[in-house]
Amino acid sequence: MVLFAPPTMPNTPLDPNRILAETFVARVEHYASIDSTNDRAKQLAQQGAGPLPLLIVAEEQTAGRGRGASRWWTGRGSLAMSLMLPPPTDNAVEQGRPSMAALAAAMAVVDTVAPLLPEVVLGIQWPNDVMAADRKLAGILVEVLSDRRSILGIGVNTNNTMADAPAELRGVATTLRDLTGRPYDATELLIALLGNLQTRLRQAADAPETLGRQVDCVCLQRGQTLALELGGREITGVCRGIAPDGGLILELPDGCQQRFYSGTLRHRPRLRS
Ligand code: BTN
Repeated sequence: MVLFAPPTMPNTPLDPNRILAETFVARVEHYASIDSTNDRAKQLAQQGAGPLPLLIVAEEQTAGRGRGASRWWTGRGSLAMSLMLPPPTDNAVEQGRPSMAALAAAMAVVDTVAPLLPEVVLGIQWPNDVMAADRKLAGILVEVLSDRRSILGIGVNTNNTMADAPAELRGVATTLRDLTGRPYDATELLIALLGNLQTRLRQAADAPETLGRQVDCVCLQRGQTLALELGGREITGVCRGIAPDGGLILELPDGCQQRFYSGTLRHRPRLRS
């Protein structure tokens, strides 16, 4: 695990040269503000090949996207990144379900922020929301291209503050700065996150069951009754944790347990507007 030193410099802007020198990425594009880093990565993918992993990183997004049709609020001081990765066979990305890459990313966020939040209940809500003190701290959006390159989008609420967020998000999301009352060096945080991400992606490829079990340990929904919308129907069940293959385990009303790999949970805290 890459440990992130306590912050020493307030709100330092991102330093792409350090990110390139100190992480596994091959190319970096940095924006103070952009519409969506995932959209920029897709645009670059259409323009052809180039060394991968490619990182697009921004401190603000004006049209950040969440899963499905939802939006992702990315106020100034956020950390928004998209990592374009080669197809799974060429790289240490998961060989199976794309959802394992999303879980790897969520665990990498947990690895990175846990040392900063020793007194905060931190964990994952399936499919891949990172929650701190019962509020959403980070979200993951994985998009797989037709040639099987993937774009791993990660948004971490960092030096932004919910005071600037749309009113409907204030009670359901949080930021590192709001939780601790201090600013963070975004470059240091991103370098630590990318180091942890490299480790977790390798684990997703080499030992996915271990990753699944570790996600299960930080699953915050165990014992909760969840309603999953899937294929036009709603499935209700009690969460029995996360399976070693990354599936959500629900105990259905007939007492049987079933694993789910897609779908949208209702009654989840919603960060998205
Ligand atoms: C979700 O929780 O619904 C997923 C949110 C993902 C947000 C990130 S921020 C970086 C990347 N660019 C985007 O437009 N979205 C993802």
